[in-house]
Amino acid sequence: MATHDDIRLEEEFMQTRMSGRTFRRLMHYVWSYRRTFILNLIFTVLATASQLAGPRFIQFGIDRYLTNFNATDAAVRGIGMVSLFYLINLFLGWFLSVVQVKSAIRVGQGAMNDLRMAVFEHIQRLSLNYFDKTHQGRIINRADTDIESLDRIMTWGANQLLASGLTLVGVIVLLLRYDWRLCLAVSVVIPPLVLATWLFQRYGMRAYRKMREQSSRLTAALAENISGVRVVQAFSREDHNLSRFQVLNDVYGERVLVSARIFHTYMPIVGLLSGVGVAIILGYGGHLVMQREISVGELAAFILYLGMFFGPIQTMGDLYNALLSTAASAERIFQLLDTEPQIVDRANAAELPAIRGHVQFHDVWFRYDTTPDDTWILKNVSFEARPGETVALVGATGSGKTSIISLICRFYEAQRGSVTIDGNPLSEATLESLHRQIAIVTQDNFLFTGSIMDNLKFGRPDATDDEVIAAAQTLGTHDVILRLQDGYQTKVAERGANFSAGERQLICFTRAMVAQPHILILDEATSAVDAPTEALIQYALEKLFERRTCFIVAHRLSTVRHAHRILVLRHGEIIEQGTHSDLLNLGGAYARLYEEFVRA
Ligand SMILES: Nc1ncnc2c1ncn2[C@@H]1O[C@H](COP(=O)(O)OP(=O)(O)OP(=O)(O)O)[C@@H](O)[C@H]1O
Ligand SMILES: [Mg+2]
Repeated sequence: MATHDDIRLEEEFMQTRMSGRTFRRLMHYVWSYRRTFILNLIFTVLATASQLAGPRFIQFGIDRYLTNFNATDAAVRGIGMVSLFYLINLFLGWFLSVVQVKSAIRVGQGAMNDLRMAVFEHIQRLSLNYFDKTHQGRIINRADTDIESLDRIMTWGANQLLASGLTLVGVIVLLLRYDWRLCLAVSVVIPPLVLATWLFQRYGMRAYRKMREQSSRLTAALAENISGVRVVQAFSREDHNLSRFQVLNDVYGERVLVSARIFHTYMPIVGLLSGVGVAIILGYGGHLVMQREISVGELAAFILYLGMFFGPIQTMGDLYNALLSTAASAERIFQLLDTEPQIVDRANAAELPAIRGHVQFHDVWFRYDTTPDDTWILKNVSFEARPGETVALVGATGSGKTSIISLICRFYEAQRGSVTIDGNPLSEATLESLHRQIAIVTQDNFLFTGSIMDNLKFGRPDATDDEVIAAAQTLGTHDVILRLQDGYQTKVAERGANFSAGERQLICFTRAMVAQPHILILDEATSAVDAPTEALIQYALEKLFERRTCFIVAHRLSTVRHAHRILVLRHGEIIEQGTHSDLLNLGGAYARLYEEFVRA
């Protein structure tokens, strides 16, 4: 298994203390729900009070009516009333805790939904250079697993922690008020309790973490085998992979056992200690009762309160660990939210006016963040596209065609030189006004789940069905779409996997046309469709784009022949430019490329 995976796992299960800053930022999300939050606090206090009141009723009933009792009518009625009140308080407590949990969920869910939205929105805003550098799995992990674990704490944990803390404080205060000697006697069980809890935290969590890590490895192996199932079968690796999986699975089984064993040792220890506490109270407290130092009712209440003492300690111990791993999640989420998109609107950015389509590159030098320092992806690139012109980019794989396109869209910014549209530097325009007017069909055309119609309207959601169909008819993609299972209503599977590569391209193409862009960019947009279909599209485009600027990247030179201007790239430099016939006459790189193409 890859070591890369292990590094990620470690990070995933890392535990830290939550910094004050992270805590405040989390609280900021809760703050939007402060009314419900305050209500929740009130209900928590009330519910705890009601719970703590229970033993007092019993104490009162015993002392008032049951010690030295005479079965008078008044006493019978009295104890009946006490029991009734006890019952009423019980129901009241139940009701309060229902409301309390409900309000806690409302706050937690609200805050976490907001956080989830913030993360989603932020990821959408991040510049492409971030995605070049960051593993996709890691981003998804943050948006998904980390928020999930935070969610669990924010919704359940925080409230439980509060309720347990309150109960604990209440119990301790009440116990001390009964009799400090009793408290002192019972505190004998506290050191072993603390020790047991500490040991459990330490070894239990370690074992639990190891188990989770192994479970992640199992999942990873499973996922890899599923996505690679064709390859596995084609190379007959089933047996080999099975035995590898078996090893992983055996280790997992062992770890589950270890974890369970520790847990099941700890739990009875707590029960045992609480029993010891009761025994001490019964003995020593009984002695105090006989000396008339305390009443029987008080002794009973003391024992009942002692029973309320251990539960919260256990809960808080469990939650402490959850809190630690949540802290790590929160740190990671905020770290993601703190990543500033590299390309943002400048302070004085202006709306780009309606584009006429005069695109110019002035001495552009460009490299990606991940490109080594001494190399440039684009070197000294200068050219222009006049309004209404079709400019074609040709050159070998990796020569920089897509990079030029990315700069026109301002997905990245050039380190030197500038790109202008109608004389406006792109760096001074708002991204929104630029992207609204450009449509692009890329090499990896992406479809979203939904219907084909939804996808076609992606660039202009207010387009009518008729407009969409008209665009498809002009492009000649209408018939292709009608031939699909449900025509325009055909459902798109994840990433459009239920269409052929050519069909996907045609849909993306139509999507770009529906957006009615002022500049159209086609990066290998027709490479997967057959030659006759491509010719048809070519013809439609020429009509549609008579007055709009169009950039075309294509390896099939028949596609670019009619361009007004052809740029030939090599290693990020423009080595030739001109019309098809200019370049043929020149007899250089393009002429050779074309010769090869025709011969093929
Ligand atoms: N996101 C990126 N991060 C780092 N380097 C990149 C990135 N995209 C491209 N490159 C590098 O930049 C160079 C130019 O790539 P580009 O995608 O512009 O080539 P291209 O001409 O479009 O090639 P193709 O015909 O294969 O699409 C390549 O050497 C590539 O390795
Ligand atoms: Mg490319």
